[in-house]
Amino acid sequence: MFDGLLDSHIQDVPKELPSLSELEASEVTLHLASRSQILLKLVEHNAFAYDFDNGGKIVRLVGNFKGGGIQKVREETNVVELSSHSGLALGPHTEAPYWCSVRSDGVHSPAPSSLILTAIFNPKEEPTSIIPIKPILEKIGSVNTLALTTKHFNFSRSDSFVAGVGEAGKNVSMVEFDEHLGFVIRYNAYRFSVSDHAPYAVKKAFEAFTSEVANFRPTTYNLSQNNVLVINNDIALHCRDIIKDNRRLLVRLFGSSRSAKMLTTNPDPIIATGG
Ligand SMILES: [Fe+2]
Repeated sequence: MFDGLLDSHIQDVPKELPSLSELEASEVTLHLASRSQILLKLVEHNAFAYDFDNGGKIVRLVGNFKGGGIQKVREETNVVELSSHSGLALGPHTEAPYWCSVRSDGVHSPAPSSLILTAIFNPKEEPTSIIPIKPILEKIGSVNTLALTTKHFNFSRSDSFVAGVGEAGKNVSMVEFDEHLGFVIRYNAYRFSVSDHAPYAVKKAFEAFTSEVANFRPTTYNLSQNNVLVINNDIALHCRDIIKDNRRLLVRLFGSSRSAKMLTTNPDPIIATGG
């Protein structure tokens, strides 16, 4: 976490958030997103976007735009998108896509190496929680960890993907060994499952992993304009509780490391393809 940063000059929390398009174009968003882009460079990651996610835009605003929080939003329906654009609690996960972690796999770009988050508003100090993966893998042991490197896991499609692109996946691994990064992970508590056809040992490993994750006490961070959190998406899960105050508004960018081999369609801004 980078802390002790200056506030933007916009401090007052509005009674209600303006529309997403107004917020995306606002000065405070551009200011804080630019700051995050610069800070990302300090960890030698480049800001980028996927063409299948967030409309191909580098900056994503994370807030309750679709309902599902403690407070209702206008025109809330019973069907709520399970993504960071709603107010629902999000269980432990790494960011999609889930096909591979570092090197591209066929037509699929790897998962982002990092996500960088700051808050425009967070009036109730609702935390972002982090679960590092190393103690979880140590707890389940080497045999279970190796079982998670086999391609016996499925994931459902992310609700936030651009309509018509980005797929659900079958027969992927959850853990990969990378020569530079060690064991890296892809996992989502509400999207991953173990294949019915998986060997018993793999099913047991998945069960051991999910139960250790559920029992782990995460580290929590209260985001504000004064701080910025960089999450290493290769080796840490993140999660959040149900949104209590609909004015909680985060700014998120993805970063790719020098090791990550994205399939890029545009060099500046970097756009990766293949969801
Ligand atoms: Fe997330």
